[in-house]
Amino acid sequence: MRHNPIPSSLFRENRQRLQALLPPGSLALLNANDVPPTNADATLLGVPNSDLFYLTGVEQEESILMLFPDAHEEKHREILFLRETSDHIAVWEGHKLTKEEARRTTGIRTIMWLQEFPAMLRLLMCQAHRVFLNSNEHARATIHVQSRDARFIREIQEAFPLHHYDRLARFMHRLRPVKSPAEVDLIKHACSLTREGFLRILKTVKPGINECEVEAEFAHEFIRRRGRFAYNPIIASGKNANVLHYLDNNQPCRRGDLLLLDVGAAYANYAADMTRTIPVSGKFSRRQKQIYQAVLRVLRGSIAALLPGTLPRDWQHHAELLMQEELLQLGLLLPKDVKNQDPDRPALKRYFMHGVGHPLGLDVHDLAEAGQPIQAGWVMTVEPGIYLPDEGFGIRLENDILVTPKGPVDLMADIPLETAEIEDLMRS
Ligand code: GLY
Ligand code: MN
Ligand code: MN
Repeated sequence: MRHNPIPSSLFRENRQRLQALLPPGSLALLNANDVPPTNADATLLGVPNSDLFYLTGVEQEESILMLFPDAHEEKHREILFLRETSDHIAVWEGHKLTKEEARRTTGIRTIMWLQEFPAMLRLLMCQAHRVFLNSNEHARATIHVQSRDARFIREIQEAFPLHHYDRLARFMHRLRPVKSPAEVDLIKHACSLTREGFLRILKTVKPGINECEVEAEFAHEFIRRRGRFAYNPIIASGKNANVLHYLDNNQPCRRGDLLLLDVGAAYANYAADMTRTIPVSGKFSRRQKQIYQAVLRVLRGSIAALLPGTLPRDWQHHAELLMQEELLQLGLLLPKDVKNQDPDRPALKRYFMHGVGHPLGLDVHDLAEAGQPIQAGWVMTVEPGIYLPDEGFGIRLENDILVTPKGPVDLMADIPLETAEIEDLMRS
């Protein structure tokens, strides 16, 4: 792990919140993610399983968490299984968690090596009434490879066919959107790294710089501050901004063009998700500023509408009405376009075709229970945009907002957003 240690109380409280939802006699099991293979004998850097991290703070490969709040023996109520190190592993891979380190990180008393897992599983399965297994139930996930959890689901059902199995995901989707103060602090820290990256590139961007050089400047700030990119950054100059998931980041930035930056740092696996759109030359044209102000008004109006009790669908609709009004004012839509529109495909979608925001947390597109209203403690992105391929530019602005009973709190309020402020900073 690169981040500073996190108090184990965060993970202990998360386990308590989960235990409060588990029916009597439940056994819950969660696996680490596989280290993804690439080509030949190479692998990518492993990405911690977000649910396992949420409940333990452990990032080490092959780890397994076993929760059994009603176990006959108290020491079996929470068990973490870890890969045991060896001289060979120490030489080739480096340090692995000791049992004492794992206790400190997680607040779990019983730490065992993986060799002990099969016997302990048999012992506790014989006491359990229901077994909750973990799976990725993000509605928009496209899954082509079998995860460690998915493999385990097949194996355990084959070994113990008469148990009742259930989905842990529905509890994780209820718990994870509501952030504790400690989690909000970690997201704020990710936002502060993102701010440092943005301030750095405001000093660096000038005509002729390549998009990849801008990406490198962000990487420099994030990594030296013990973070990483929370997702593949989108560094899109000119017309590239109209490709919503542009990832090539390889074109020169030209004088007169805008540069859309959808970039966020992750710190301790908690993500920030920011978008800014800046002028390559340091000065917005009149037209660019006109569109920018329209997007900024929709951003502000959509932030203000992030109130507990609002259904995400209604919030989206509200943002679309704000955007429709702006597009009418700009003359990009005509009253007849709105009057004749198919309600399932409103005319404004031609210019603003994506969602206005999403939950943010350990995952950039974080978990939330489908159909549930927005609650206090959720962190949401707000990210309206207007895309104008015919004019060779697109503008999106994105901030991260904490929902509270007293109203929305902008976690990116200190990241320059007004056109004048951006021009001033680029000039100096
Ligand atoms: N960067 C991904 C998103 O804004 O949703
Ligand atoms: Mn984004
Ligand atoms: Mn986003």
